Amino acid sequence: MPLFILCALTMGLLVLASLLLARKLRRLRQLRRRQQHIWETHNIFQLFDRAAPLPPPGGWAASTDLLGELVRVVAARQPRVVVELGSGLSTLVIAAALRRNRAGRLICVEADDQYAHSTRAQLHQHALDDWATGRSVPLQSIEFEGERRPWYDTSLLGDVDSIDLLFIDGPPTALRRDIRYPALPFFWNKLNAGAVVLLDDADRPAESAMAKSWQRRFPQALFEHLRFEKGALRVTSLARVPAPRAPSHSAASTA
Ligand SMILES: C[S@@+](CC[C@H](N)C(=O)[O-])C[C@H]1O[C@@H](n2cnc3c(N)ncnc32)[C@H](O)[C@@H]1O
Repeated sequence: MPLFILCALTMGLLVLASLLLARKLRRLRQLRRRQQHIWETHNIFQLFDRAAPLPPPGGWAASTDLLGELVRVVAARQPRVVVELGSGLSTLVIAAALRRNRAGRLICVEADDQYAHSTRAQLHQHALDDWATGRSVPLQSIEFEGERRPWYDTSLLGDVDSIDLLFIDGPPTALRRDIRYPALPFFWNKLNAGAVVLLDDADRPAESAMAKSWQRRFPQALFEHLRFEKGALRVTSLARVPAPRAPSHSAASTA
């Protein structure tokens, strides 16, 4: 057989083998995701006593893998103060995880009054009122690091301090794609040493850019990308070091 035919056949076989391998790996990844989804669903439902149905995960709500991670962090770190930006299913899950610890409190910051009301009602249905406070904090146009941008009314967050776990899943991004950028710089000096910060939707381009700029700004923290359904970022503040540049944030007219 001529040499060029032999080479072509070998190349063809190699391409076929790599396609088959890629398909097998894709299926394995899907299987692992499904297994993880089932596993985390079990971990999450163990926290509830079926008082009322839970809203579904994913979409606007955090995905099951991230909710499972929140449950694990709350169990491992035994946080005293948890702050969440953007309420919903995650509020119920964090509050229920704190109830299992029999310690800690969640301050849930919500920009939408109606949504805050609905979250408070769901907390009540699940007898979680003692573990979480839903706080309505409207969005305002603030001056942040020399730029005007919409974010929460910071005058309503002045008392929040000594945070052990910060979960960033709000405000919604309709007004600005990188609307969540101020979260880490604003709360940095309010984090306890060893505090964990989790950011949802880390695979979106705006969040990805935010993560890079946070990493440049806070080199003393550990940044880990989590390969979850929507991507997540875990930041661990290794020491309580003051932020390098004090961000200026002053409120002005409502956004
Ligand atoms: C990504 S959601 C927060 C989800 C929450 N952490 C959870 O796991 O359920 C961010 C904000 O979007 C708004 N929001 C939530 N669900 C919504 C919906 N179905 N339609 C419109 N806005 C919604 C709320 O103001 C919420 O604070």
